[in-house]
Amino acid sequence: MSVLQKATLDLLRCVGSNQGSRCSRLVHSRPETSPPAKSSKEVFEREANITAKNYAPLPVSIVRGKGVHMWDNEGKKYLDFLGGFATLNQGHCHPKILKTLHEQSSILHHTSRAIYHDLLYQLGEYITNLFRYKRFIPMNTGVEGGETSIKLARKWGYQVKKIPEGKAEVVFAAGNFWGRTLAAISSSTDPTSFNEFGPHMPGYNIIPYNDIEALEAKLKSNPNICAFMVEPIQGEAGAVVPDEGYLKKVRELCTKYNVLWIADEVQTGLGRTGKLLAVHYEDVRPDIVILGKALSGGLYPISAVLADDEVMGTLVPGTHGSTYGGNPLACKLAMSALDVILEEGMIENAYKMGEIFRSELRGRLSEDVVPIVRGKGLLNAIVLDKAIPVYDVCIKMKDAGLVTKPISNNIIRLSPALNIKEEELREGLDIIINTINTVSAKKT
Ligand SMILES: Cc1ncc(COP(=O)(O)O)c(C=O)c1O
Repeated sequence: MSVLQKATLDLLRCVGSNQGSRCSRLVHSRPETSPPAKSSKEVFEREANITAKNYAPLPVSIVRGKGVHMWDNEGKKYLDFLGGFATLNQGHCHPKILKTLHEQSSILHHTSRAIYHDLLYQLGEYITNLFRYKRFIPMNTGVEGGETSIKLARKWGYQVKKIPEGKAEVVFAAGNFWGRTLAAISSSTDPTSFNEFGPHMPGYNIIPYNDIEALEAKLKSNPNICAFMVEPIQGEAGAVVPDEGYLKKVRELCTKYNVLWIADEVQTGLGRTGKLLAVHYEDVRPDIVILGKALSGGLYPISAVLADDEVMGTLVPGTHGSTYGGNPLACKLAMSALDVILEEGMIENAYKMGEIFRSELRGRLSEDVVPIVRGKGLLNAIVLDKAIPVYDVCIKMKDAGLVTKPISNNIIRLSPALNIKEEELREGLDIIINTINTVSAKKT
């Protein structure tokens, strides 16, 4: 008899026998499960049978990671050029962050914000000094950071800018990605993200990315705009780098029209692009900065929003919060994850490795096959000619020992750990270049 049949039978017996207390014991016992899968193939099958089908993973099942490497169920070693969606800036299982996790989790891991603990202010002092903002608010995921920022901007719009109640509007750039909540997908220009999830959030405006005239026209046309939220480099759109000077102009226009500039640095921040923040490439200061992903080194969901008093001061008790946000373990981990990035020269390494990476890709791949190589630091993407089957390329790269995934029909994102060594980067380059050349040669 299968586990499911047995459970159903137990339940039916309970219902029939009218024995409430015995029933609850039976129903609440731990369900029997099969032993862990013995092969990658078994993992693919069992996961497909039991989870919602909202992801289409590459057929590789990982059981262990260390630095820039991962190993699958069969013990095969891979270079990880996906980096947990650009989250594993510090690599897999960084010893210092792991030590923090072990130590802090046996001291104090959760309290809630209903009472104080002695780590929230420590992280606050660390993070506000590092990024030069007056205040921060801790959250868990990147998308919550985005939601928090929009709530802050609306509050500021009503209290400071004096926008009439209920009329505040936010501007976004086409191609943005900031998560999967209803507020986030309402700003998406990708129908797969927003179709059949309506009604969507009102008060949103979408303009083209990297288009300063469109931004000015929009801000000029509507005095009720409270914020422009934008990624300094669009990550999920495929490492789309705006023209030089764009971020400076965004700053100027937001100041001119009294609109808050929210920089979504969830993916680009914390050294990923070869600077602490991507906005530092143009030496500009947004009004609100959102951090996430690598803020925990991939060990734990931690995000944060930074702003000054005029913006953060609009929140009072009861207006915003999160059960897990700012818990002691998260605070300690975030400080440790930041320490590692700063102490181990990861930002400088990301810059240096990124330069080598793009120049090798541009030099060794034909423009007919890969017309665009773009990115900054170690947030990079290659755009393949439409005739090249992008998924096949990723499968063949995986077979050759490098894991990454397409982010659209013809774009592959490449975002390894920031502490990747030059020889590891070059090993990865050889796999990427040889695979693309082999697949494209077969097509011609
Ligand atoms: C720029 C950006 N913002 C926000 C998010 C959402 O982060 P999370 O998935 O942690 O909610 C992402 C995720 O990829 C992102 O790339």
